[in-house]
Amino acid sequence: MSRKILVTSALPYANGAIHLGHLVEYIQTDIWVRFQKMQPQDKVAECWYVCADDTHGTPIMLRAEKDGITPEALIERVHGEHARDFAGFHVAFDNFYSTHSPETQECANVIYARLQQAGLIERRTIEQYYDPAKQMFLPDRFIKGECPKCGAHDQYGDNCESCGAAYTPNDLKNPYSAISGAKPELRHSDHYFFKLSDERCQSFLRRWTREPGRLQPEAANKMQEWLGAEGENKLTDWDISRDAPYFGFEIPDAPGKYFYVWLDAPIGYMGSFKNLCDRRGIDFDAYFTPDTAAELYHFIGKDILYFHALFWPAELEHAGYRTPSGIFAHGFLTVNGAKMSKSRGTFITAESYLQTGLNPEWLRYYYAAKLNSTMEDIDLNLEDFVARVNSDLVGKYVNIASRCAGFIGKRFGGRLAATEADWQKPLRDAAAGIAQAYEEREFGRALREIMALADAANVFVNDKKPWELAKQEGREAELHAACSQAIEAFRLLTLYLKPVLPKVAEAVEAFLGIAPLAWNDAATPLPAGHAINAYSHLMTRIDPKLVAALVEANKVSLAPVPEAAPQKHAEKQEKAAEVAKAAAEVGGVAGPHISIDDFMKIELKVARIVNAGHVEGAEKLIRLSLDIGEEKPRQVFAGIKSAYDPAQLIGRLTVMVANLAPRKMKFGLSEGMILAASDADGKTPGIFLLAPDAGACPGMRVK
Ligand code: 2FM
Ligand code: ZN
Repeated sequence: MSRKILVTSALPYANGAIHLGHLVEYIQTDIWVRFQKMQPQDKVAECWYVCADDTHGTPIMLRAEKDGITPEALIERVHGEHARDFAGFHVAFDNFYSTHSPETQECANVIYARLQQAGLIERRTIEQYYDPAKQMFLPDRFIKGECPKCGAHDQYGDNCESCGAAYTPNDLKNPYSAISGAKPELRHSDHYFFKLSDERCQSFLRRWTREPGRLQPEAANKMQEWLGAEGENKLTDWDISRDAPYFGFEIPDAPGKYFYVWLDAPIGYMGSFKNLCDRRGIDFDAYFTPDTAAELYHFIGKDILYFHALFWPAELEHAGYRTPSGIFAHGFLTVNGAKMSKSRGTFITAESYLQTGLNPEWLRYYYAAKLNSTMEDIDLNLEDFVARVNSDLVGKYVNIASRCAGFIGKRFGGRLAATEADWQKPLRDAAAGIAQAYEEREFGRALREIMALADAANVFVNDKKPWELAKQEGREAELHAACSQAIEAFRLLTLYLKPVLPKVAEAVEAFLGIAPLAWNDAATPLPAGHAINAYSHLMTRIDPKLVAALVEANKVSLAPVPEAAPQKHAEKQEKAAEVAKAAAEVGGVAGPHISIDDFMKIELKVARIVNAGHVEGAEKLIRLSLDIGEEKPRQVFAGIKSAYDPAQLIGRLTVMVANLAPRKMKFGLSEGMILAASDADGKTPGIFLLAPDAGACPGMRVK
């Protein structure tokens, strides 16, 4: 029977940027899904990949408050950023949605009601710390105090970073609220619990976690530890409610009580899929009915196994839904052998990677080469990254086409001779083994096999030496045959690499003048006489300087973002338009909009240029003194020297961003930014300073 598959990646929290650690999972999942989508209909009828932002909870509520915006505005902004970053790395969700959605709320209510009917929800009074100043109950992470064991100050409510002790917030000495600093009080509150300790849950999970395919062996072992021996009843009930104020879904018939974020997060998988089904006419029930043959896989990090392998299947089972077919946990990412670190510049955001000009497919390839089906951590060694990509992708793979394609175009009118030859047999026969490696998430193994095949193709090209044949008279047929065979080998390698390098594959498909490559195409060589198009270079080598710049950029990313020079600015705008377009294609919800709250965060003010001068040693900059009605004029360095003479500027009014964090430059402190227009595609060159109409005064707010 042909498979129907639904795949998810963990939902990223809607209050932070996507970084290279996150990308391990999204790239891993995307490769697996792309591989499935290349399968013929009689093997895989459908494969859907859904995700969403995880939008609820106290940290998101507080973060919005800190930014002076509503949680809705925050999650909308972050959704746009996340969609942009995923699209930038070619992560092709069928739907990238939000847990703050009617579909997720409906599913959460249904699951809750059914668990209640099954007698698996219990209301209990608990004692919890309350912040009297902030007037809210405090999650453990928001209570600090002295470690009960070693006495270290400023430790969180769950464990001590100094001695490693684990405890409950009630054990902390001299506790205080990390939000307001107030001394918290213990207060009573009613909470709702999912009765995981119930015999039905325990026996179901004991069975489920042992079923073949559900969990990786190391995860299954961990589960046995958590479940304990038969009859031991180690699982405790799970607190699924939180008190107002909380950003989330209010529990039906329980005013002031909200579903805890971890209750509705996995339900967000269903919500996102439901939204996709409604838009695309897919049968949701066919995927979620208990006896379905449709498959459901969750790709996650090993840190959230507990939620996915215990709570989630138990909830689904007892609410009358299917349970996951498999949970695929991966390890953490280290960079240069250590935890990602902001001070070392190895806490690298997806956005900065792309903005530095690094090719996303380099990272996709490197991660794939390191990934397998276990929960082992993977290391991004930056030197090895450069070496591996340059050697494998450019030195081995692209090299085959770049050494042969030109001759077909120049000497044979772009037409191939017969492309099949005995030496390619191992290349063609490898399709099944490589497919199996992808299916088993043994991507490293798949790529090792593919690179061994690329080596064989290079041996063939090295032996034939088309560049020498081309110089010898009467050897045209040999040259034609050798280059045609090499191009066919290149086509096969591209097919095998396509799940990892989708954009390169697209470019190769255009170059070869063929339809999108599917897995079965391995068996059908390009026919003699087939016309190919002109070859243009498919991938450049990584310049190690770019990687150094990336690390540097992430070191300073704690400081304000540097003002963009006009040219760079134009490039950035183009990139932004491109990614916004791609983002819009991904999820439907994403778009290039910001909310009015976002806009209002920028303090634009009318400024009078009271002084202007050249900056020694700076080609593009003018030093400006700007009066915005403050006691002292602000100093700003502006990249407008190519268009203005400083003397012309003195006395003029313009508009500045007054609340941009000051930036230390080598010439002095820049305390803001002035606004100027320039044409993104350079048709009308120049820089045009903005100016208010007559009558505006320095210091007036622009909005
Ligand atoms: O750990 C996290 O980042 C969570 N936001 C993952 C949620 S995955 C799923 F359960 F929604
Ligand atoms: Zn301690």
